[in-house]
Amino acid sequence: RARVPGAAAEPEVGMAEQRDEAAGGTAVLGEEEQAAAGLRVSIDGELAEITIARPERRNAMTGRTWTTLAHVGQNLPDSVRIVVLKGEGPSFSAGIDLAMFSPEGVPGERSMMGMVGDDPEDRAELDAAIAGYQQGFTWLHRPDIVSIAAVRGHAIGAGFQLALACDLRVLADDAKLCMKEPALGLVPDLAGTKPLVEIVGLPRALEICLTARTVAADEASRLGLAELVVPGAELDAAVADLAAALQAVPRDAAAATKELLQGAAGRTLDEQCAAERSAQIDRLNAMAALMRG
Ligand code: CAA
Repeated sequence: RARVPGAAAEPEVGMAEQRDEAAGGTAVLGEEEQAAAGLRVSIDGELAEITIARPERRNAMTGRTWTTLAHVGQNLPDSVRIVVLKGEGPSFSAGIDLAMFSPEGVPGERSMMGMVGDDPEDRAELDAAIAGYQQGFTWLHRPDIVSIAAVRGHAIGAGFQLALACDLRVLADDAKLCMKEPALGLVPDLAGTKPLVEIVGLPRALEICLTARTVAADEASRLGLAELVVPGAELDAAVADLAAALQAVPRDAAAATKELLQGAAGRTLDEQCAAERSAQIDRLNAMAALMRG
């Protein structure tokens, strides 16, 4: 029986979802589980679309949203190579549901404050819970997929980090990005600090985080935080065009190239050249095998 990882205190994911079932979000996650996590998942062949679907709360997310996202990533059908993340309504996401910090927490979920305590076991429990949440973000960098965040309106805190978890960001011209955590006495802890520093550099990342200011779409574009900025009415079409262009490249070559590019910053030039040779030989072998039939 599949469980949402890291969701020990949360209800189990139902039997409806089985890897490799017919296309459609319920193949990965039952409808009730989607609703409980504030998500809507739709899968159509090579394309998965994940919508944060709590517009009445500006798509505020809970721990369950993130453990469920991790579950979606782990159970994605092999057919999928493009994952689009979007928000329903005027905001991409207003970040963590602030009720997570209240003593009562969100109904059905443990309060973050409820996990805080003085002894090492409390610390370990909180560490494990946050690690489970982070898994909801990190899978979006996987080499076998390309993830695209379609951001309109606010992407605050965890919402900004979710956009940063994606490989590419397409912004509507009303997008507003804000790393609000330091202003709340916290740190960004949902795997967002590394991509932010990699994209904008340390000084700009410091300035954005430590002022907790809002970065509007045009500035985001200049900083490399958006691959594309379009009028709001054109956001879906722009994302669809980008997805189609990505799908036009052979998937194995795309995956190998993404892996190569992702590893570049951590390698010397000589090491990167060796990695290029190795990946190319794999590609040539695969092509030769295809030609042989
Ligand atoms: N958690 C819970 N509820 C939220 C929410 C959140 N993060 N953001 C918005 N809502 C609720 C509002 O309380 C409001 O509810 P009611 O209708 O019951 O009053 C409803 O959503 C609509 O919100 P607004 O009326 O405020 O909508 P707006 O369009 O005027 O403003 C907004 C939108 C700028 C996003 C504003 O709602 C806002 O600032 N929200 C809080 C953002 C925030 O501080 N997020 C936490 C960031 S830190 C983080 O995410 C990571 C971490 O680990 C700490």
